[in-house]
Amino acid sequence: DALEQQLADLQDFQVIAHRGASGHAPEHTWPSYERALEMGADYLELDLHMSADGELVAIHDETLERTTDGEGQVKDHTLAELKALDAGSWFNQAHPERADDAFAGAELLTLDEVIERYGDDVRYYIETKSPERYPELQRALVETLEAEGLVASGSVVIQSFSRDSLQQVHALNADIPLVQLVWYSPAEDGEGLTEWTGVTPAPAEITDADFQAIADYAVGIGPNVTFEGEDVIDAGFVEQAHANGLLVHPYTINERDEMRRLLDWGVDGMFTNFPDRLSEVVE
Ligand code: G3P
Ligand code: CA
Repeated sequence: DALEQQLADLQDFQVIAHRGASGHAPEHTWPSYERALEMGADYLELDLHMSADGELVAIHDETLERTTDGEGQVKDHTLAELKALDAGSWFNQAHPERADDAFAGAELLTLDEVIERYGDDVRYYIETKSPERYPELQRALVETLEAEGLVASGSVVIQSFSRDSLQQVHALNADIPLVQLVWYSPAEDGEGLTEWTGVTPAPAEITDADFQAIADYAVGIGPNVTFEGEDVIDAGFVEQAHANGLLVHPYTINERDEMRRLLDWGVDGMFTNFPDRLSEVVE
C-alpha cells in the first residue's frame, strides 16, 4: 500500500527542502514551498508552532522578530494576528542578491493551508518544535494528518529533537515514520545522547544501545554534521546507524563539497536550503 511505498522510497536518497527552498525565498512561505516543489524536492520540511488559539503554524523560531515584522512569542498571538504579519520582507533585506518584490508581504501559513493546497501530491517532513510549550501539539497534528488521510497515503514523516514528542506521536499513531533529531555540541556539558539534544565529544559517541533505543520508535536519525567547523559525526556513525536499522538524514547541508562528502559517507538524504543544488550533486 501507499505507506509501504513510502517506506520503500525512504530507502532511496531523499532531498528534503529545509523550510522550503529557503535559500531562494523567505522560509515557510508560499514562494519558498513553491520553489522547493519546482526544484523536485522529495519532502517539504515544516517546523510547527501553535498560535494562542491553537492553530498549527509553520514557522521556525518561537519568536516573531527574525522572520516577520511582528514582535514577541508565536504562542501569544492569535492566528488572525499572525496572518496579518509580513513574513517576506526580512528576506529581501537580509539577501538583497536574491530579493524579489513578490516576497514582500508574504504570509505565515497554517498546516491546514499547506495541506489544502498540496494534499497528498506532496510529502511533508514535519518537525514538532518546543513541544513542552504546546502540550496539545502532537494530538492536533496527528488528528489533522489522519483526518486528511495523509498517514495512509504515506505522505508524512515526523521529526523532533524531543524524544518525548516523538513517543507521544508514536502512541497516537504507530504508522507514522519518525526521525529523531540530535544536536551534537561538544562545547556543552551533558549526559550524552540520553538528553536527545546532543552533547557528546566529536565525533559523536553513540552506542548500539543508543541507536536501538531510537530504532524502537523511529526509522531514522537526523544529526548535525559539524560544530564550529569540526566534524561531530563521521562515516562510521552512518555505518553504525545503518547496522542498527536507522536511516541518516543530516541537517542542514548547503554547500556542494559538503553534499559530496556526505554522499560518500552513504547518508540517506539531507536537509538543504538549496534543493536544486543537492539534486544536481546527487545526479
Ligand atoms: O529539522 C532538521 C533541522 O531543520 C533542525 O534544525 O533548527 O533548522 O529546525 P532547525
Ligand atoms: Ca527543522
